[in-house]
This record gives sequence, C-alpha cells and structure tokens, in this order.
Amino acid sequence: MGKSGGVWILALMVAWCVLAAARVRATARTTIYEVLGAQGLPVGLLPKGIVKYWFNRTSGEFEVKMEKACNAKFENEVHYESNIKGILGYGRIGKLSGVSAQELFLWFPVKGIRVDVPTSGLIHFDVGVADKQFSLSLFEDPPDCNPQDNVGDVERRAVW
Ligand SMILES: *[C@@H]1O[C@H](CO)[C@@H](O)[C@H](O)[C@H]1NC(C)=O
Repeated sequence: MGKSGGVWILALMVAWCVLAAARVRATARTTIYEVLGAQGLPVGLLPKGIVKYWFNRTSGEFEVKMEKACNAKFENEVHYESNIKGILGYGRIGKLSGVSAQELFLWFPVKGIRVDVPTSGLIHFDVGVADKQFSLSLFEDPPDCNPQDNVGDVERRAVW
C-alpha cells in the first residue's frame, strides 16, 4: 500500500469518529417529553411511539410525528393523528391540531390544553364546545398508543 492509501485510511477513520460522535450527541438530544416537562406540562400528554419532533424555542411552535395514528386510553379515549402540531407556552398548549378526545361516543378536536399555575391537580382540555377537566394524575407517564384501523371513520367524526 502506498503513502496515499494510508492517508485515505486515516481520513476514513477520522470521518467514522466524527459520525460516531454525532450519533452519540443525537441520542442524548432532549426528548419532546422533556420539553413538555420544562413547560410545566405532564409528559403523559403525548403517547409512546413518537418518531420525531420539532420545537421552536422562540415561538413555541412544535410538531410531532407519530409512527401511526393511534388511540390511547386515559379516562376517555384520546386519538392522536400521525402529525400533531401546536404552540407550547408555560403550562399550556394552544392552536393544537391532530388530537381528539372521545366524549359520549363522539369525537371532539382538542384545540388547547392547560394546567393551572400553581397547580390545582387538574388539567383542562379545550374541546371547543366545552372546557373538559381531567385529573393530572392520569397523565403522569406516556401511555401506550394502539394503532387504529378505523382512522378514516374517526377522522370523519372528529370534524363534527
Ligand atoms: C422560530 O420562531 C421565530 C419567531 O416566530 C422565527 O423568527 C424563526 O424563524 C423560527 N425558527 C425556525 C427554525 O423556524
């Protein structure tokens, strides 16, 4: 092997180290659950199965990509679309889209979520027609989320 061959091998090794270091950094990246926690919100508001997310610290805008649309069971059933967006503020999420909650067999889009500061132990879901209250303790951990086969059906009713 000539001199230039050695240089190439060295270059490849350096590149590999840089990539490996970048991967370690990516793994150590803040999760969306930590972002929620830092905003005084319970981490269980978003289910397991998040593929990636974006969060703009300046505007509070966030977007979450789920593996699949799915349903999680709290007290009520909550439906998560594969794309969820909103604006995060301290103790609140506004302009929410991609989340709906079931109430008396009907699905209502959840437009906003807020907790009281200081805490009252309750969390409020703005479902347009009403302010629906739940116990904060229901949202302590990210729930399992079950993929739904009848998503089209759910979407249609969510528009109601
Ligand atoms: C974040 O939000 C700020 C304020 O709205 C905006 O100026 C900026 O371009 C946004 N950054 C990204 C990466 O979207």
